[in-house]
Amino acid sequence: MNVPAIEVEHLYKSYGALTAVHDLCFTVAGSTCFSFLGPNGAGKTTMMKVLYGKAEADRSSETRMQVFGFDPRRDQLRIKTLSGVVPQENSLDVELNVQQNLRIFADFYGIPRRQSAERIEWLLEFMELRDRRSARVRELSGGMKRRLVIARALLNDPALLILDEPTTGLDPQVRQLIWDKLRSLKREGVTILLTTHYMDEAFQIADTVLIMDKGHKVLEGAPQQLLEQHIEKNVLELTRPSQAARLRQLLDGVRSDTSDERVLYYSSNIELLQAAAGQLEPGDYYLRQTNLEDLFLKSTGRRLNELQ
Ligand SMILES: Nc1ncnc2c1ncn2[C@@H]1O[C@H](COP(=O)(O)OP(=O)(O)OP(=O)(O)O)[C@@H](O)[C@H]1O
Ligand SMILES: [Mg+2]
Repeated sequence: MNVPAIEVEHLYKSYGALTAVHDLCFTVAGSTCFSFLGPNGAGKTTMMKVLYGKAEADRSSETRMQVFGFDPRRDQLRIKTLSGVVPQENSLDVELNVQQNLRIFADFYGIPRRQSAERIEWLLEFMELRDRRSARVRELSGGMKRRLVIARALLNDPALLILDEPTTGLDPQVRQLIWDKLRSLKREGVTILLTTHYMDEAFQIADTVLIMDKGHKVLEGAPQQLLEQHIEKNVLELTRPSQAARLRQLLDGVRSDTSDERVLYYSSNIELLQAAAGQLEPGDYYLRQTNLEDLFLKSTGRRLNELQ
C-alpha cells in the first residue's frame, strides 16, 4: 500500500487565547491536489505554516504529523528540501529583475550555477515568463509576480508544492493559466497542497477539499462527492426577495436561505424549481446547480467570502 504523502492527526495551534486550528485530522495521497477551503481567518495559512515548519503546533500527546515520513516538529530542514512554498504574500525583491530573483533563490538553495541556469530557463518557459526575464519585479503585473513566485517555489524540483492562495486577486485568464500549470505538475507526480477561499478553484483542481471554518474541519472529500452527498442538486436564486411571497405555496417545504439581497431555494427536484421560476420575470432569478459555496453556507450559515 502507498504511504500517504502527508498525515496529520489531532493538530492544534493557538495564538494566546485564540485557537487558530482545532483538532484537525487529514491525509494527503501522493501526487494529488489537496485543498483547504475556508473564509478569512479559518486557519488555512496557520495549518500550512505548521506543515512546513514556519509555525509551531501546540504541544499535545494526541498530535501526529508526517510529511514524506518526516515530522515538521523535528525535521523542518528535510521537509524544506522536499518542498516548494508559495506564501500568501509574494515576498519578491522588487528592485531585482525576474531572472535575478530566481538566481538568488537558487544560490540560497545551494543549487550549482550550471544546473540552476538550466532550471531557470525551463521555469521561465513553463510559467510563461521568458519575455519578461529582464523586467524588474516592480514593473510586473500581479499575475506575473504570482507566476514568478510559483517558478521560484519550483526551483528545487520539489515533490511537494505548497501554495497559499495562489490566485487571489488575479484575473480569470491568469487563474486558468495557473490552474493548468498545477494540473500539469500533478501529472508529473508533484503533490500539491493549497489554500483558497474560491470554491471554483477548489472544484477545478483539488482531488480532495477540506472545508474549514474558525479552525475546525467542516467537511472533507472529493468536491463532486461532497456535493452529491451533502446538498440538494439545484438552487433557485431570487435576486428580488420580494418575489418570494408568490412562491410560498408552490415551494412549501423546500429548504431555503434568506439574506437581505436574495432568497435561495434548494431542491434536487429540478421540475419543481423550474415551475417556480416560471412564475417569475426573467432577470429576477437564476436557476443553477449547487456548488461548494452553497455547501459552505449550508454547513456554517456563513458565506465563504464574508468579511470576518
Ligand atoms: N502570528 C499570529 N499571531 C496571532 N494571531 C494570529 C497569527 N496568525 C494568525 N492569527 C490568527 O489566527 C486565525 C487564523 O489565521 P490564518 O491566517 O491561519 O487564517 P486564513 O484562513 O489563512 O485566513 P485568510 O483567508 O485571511 O488568509 C485568525 O484569527 C488570525 O487572526
Ligand atoms: Mg491565509
